[in-house]
Amino acid sequence: MLWKQFIGFAILGLTLAQLHSVNSQAAVTTCKSPFALVSDKCLLWHSKFLNWYEADRQCRSQGAQLVSVQNVSQLQAINKWMKASSPNTVEFWTSGNKLGNTQNLYFWESTGQQAKYLPWAKSQPKPKDGDCLMLYSEIKNGVVANEYLLSVRNCTAWSSIVCEQVPTKSVQRTCLMPNSFETVQVQQN
Ligand SMILES: *[C@@H]1O[C@H](CO)[C@@H](O)[C@H](O)[C@H]1NC(C)=O
Ligand SMILES: *[C@@H]1O[C@H](CO)[C@@H](O)[C@H](O)[C@H]1NC(C)=O
Repeated sequence: MLWKQFIGFAILGLTLAQLHSVNSQAAVTTCKSPFALVSDKCLLWHSKFLNWYEADRQCRSQGAQLVSVQNVSQLQAINKWMKASSPNTVEFWTSGNKLGNTQNLYFWESTGQQAKYLPWAKSQPKPKDGDCLMLYSEIKNGVVANEYLLSVRNCTAWSSIVCEQVPTKSVQRTCLMPNSFETVQVQQN
C-alpha cells in the first residue's frame, strides 16, 4: 500500500516538473552587435557617404542588405530609431530600386519582393531622376524632422546608408536538474 502511494507521488512530482519546464520557455529575438533591434529588423546606420552600389556592397560585406520598408509600423519604428540615434540625418539609401525595369516597378533588393508599400515624399515619385530609392526627411525650422519618406534618386548620388539583417530567434528553456537548473538557448533560424 505504502509502496503504491510512493510511486503515485513520484509520478505526480515528475509531471509537475515537466509542466514547469514547459512553462519556462521564452522566445528571444536578438541582433548581432552593432545592429539594433528596430521593429522586427536589425538595423545599422553608416555615416559614410556612398553611392547606391557601394552602399549595397557595404551592407553585404557585413552579412546584411540595404534596408527595406514593408508597412507603416516599420516606417514609424525607423523614424523613432533615427530620431534617437542619428537625429541630423536628412537621407539614407534603401534597397528599393527599379534598375533594369522599364515599367517603373520598384523592388526591394534585400527581399527580392516588389515594393507594395511606397510612402512617397512630397512631389514624388519622379522616375526620371534615377532608379534608386532613398528615405528622405524634410527639414522644419532648420531641424531634420526625422519623418522619412521615399524619394527617387540617381543611384550614383552619395548618401548615408542603413543596412538590415534578419534577427536571430531562439527559445530559452529552463531545464530542471536534481539540485539546480540550467538555461539553454536554442537557435531557430
Ligand atoms: C509589417 O511587415 C512585417 C514583415 O512583413 C510583418 O511581420 C508585420 O506583421 C507587419 N506589421 C503590420 C502592422 O502589418
Ligand atoms: C546619373 O548621374 C550620372 C552622373 O552624373 C549621369 O551620367 C546619369 O545620366 C544620371 N542618370 C539619370 C537617370 O539621371
